[in-house]
Amino acid sequence: MEAPLRVGLAGLGTVGSAVAGMLLRTRDKLADRAGRPIDLVAVASKDPPRDQSLDLSSIKRSDDPVALAKGEGIDVFVELMGGSGDPAKASVEAALGIGRPVVTANKALIAKHGTSLIKLAEKHNAAFNFEAAVGGGIPVIKTLREGLGGAEISRVYGILNGTCNYILTQMQKEGRSFEDCLKEAQKLGYAEADPTFDIGGFDTAHKIAILASLAFGAEVDADAVYVEGIQSITLADLEAADDLGYRVKLLGVAVKTDTGVEQRVHPTMVPKGSVIGEIDGVTNAVAINSDALDLTLVGPGAGGAATASAVVADLVDLASGRRVMPFGRGSAKLKKAVRAPMQDHEGGYYIRLAAVDKPGTAASIAGRMAERGISLESIVQHRRDKKQSSDAPAPVILITYATNEDAMRSALDAIKKDGVLAADPQVIRIEKN
Ligand code: HSE
Repeated sequence: MEAPLRVGLAGLGTVGSAVAGMLLRTRDKLADRAGRPIDLVAVASKDPPRDQSLDLSSIKRSDDPVALAKGEGIDVFVELMGGSGDPAKASVEAALGIGRPVVTANKALIAKHGTSLIKLAEKHNAAFNFEAAVGGGIPVIKTLREGLGGAEISRVYGILNGTCNYILTQMQKEGRSFEDCLKEAQKLGYAEADPTFDIGGFDTAHKIAILASLAFGAEVDADAVYVEGIQSITLADLEAADDLGYRVKLLGVAVKTDTGVEQRVHPTMVPKGSVIGEIDGVTNAVAINSDALDLTLVGPGAGGAATASAVVADLVDLASGRRVMPFGRGSAKLKKAVRAPMQDHEGGYYIRLAAVDKPGTAASIAGRMAERGISLESIVQHRRDKKQSSDAPAPVILITYATNEDAMRSALDAIKKDGVLAADPQVIRIEKN
């Protein structure tokens, strides 16, 4: 058997601990798959391992990831600290800069610096694998890069943040508050260190930017992603969606349009009964449409074991000599990303209005929509709660047929100016299967 692949690992949080545990526990099985052992020989972490049951007594320990990345005694550097800045960036650059292979699960790093990092990797002929950066254990990067290498992809979209899907599912099924569900997701180890990255949609934005690059052969452009989080979603929206035959999901969507690639992250209404609509809890799902086939991958998108499985799979690839270009083509072949402006987005909308209950309100709402050519698929006004006073606003819910974002925003501005709303409208885009 060949010499072992010696692994230096930085970061012993949820994922780092799980990777260390998997490498130690399954060494023999991995050696069979890779054709040689994969040995964890050194770790760098400023904190003790998240999993305190880990026995790292035979492993070299330090708190300097950059020194580990470029030091002697390892063949591959595994970065599991997270974050787009240092020390993650500096240590990955240090390893690639001496031609050392790198495996990372760091979506923020790839989303912000993916293009410059693969150029560095190419320059020094170093492998650079990041399967775990998107979709946790779901092999979506391999699917886009290798499995669908012959297809022309037109859209990739899905549920890419387990924390948000967990929160939305728990709220909808159990009628519990947003804060309560978030706390639980944190306790279960799904959420980022700063959960604003999850609920604000930024984690999903990083992931969809990476998928868009792989799908469309363009440089990663995280700044081009339109982002809305789930903070404004209320139980009222989830109930109304249910009544109307929809579920609300935080989706990342990248779609080829006539003007470029539209990349967006926002709460989205998807039909109940659709694959995406039925994905509950921390599970992720990625749907891919292409000229040759459509498919959906479903699986755990967060959590130590699932994410560690993807990191370890990258290590098995390296150990066995399987090597591909990180974005499926050389960096010189990646196109500059052309952003499609969000105001040109075409689609249906759910709009919840707190309407002043007086004659002419419905006419004003419908009139402003009609002036801009917006056709309404349904309009529902619920009775006020009996406990509310007679001048309390009445909830009005509109579903539009496909229209243009600019027209919809302009209609809502006009309705606001007509003085028939008691609060800002809630808008949720609808995504067709
Ligand atoms: N915080 C992320 C999530 C972890 O909830 O999906 C996986 O990237």
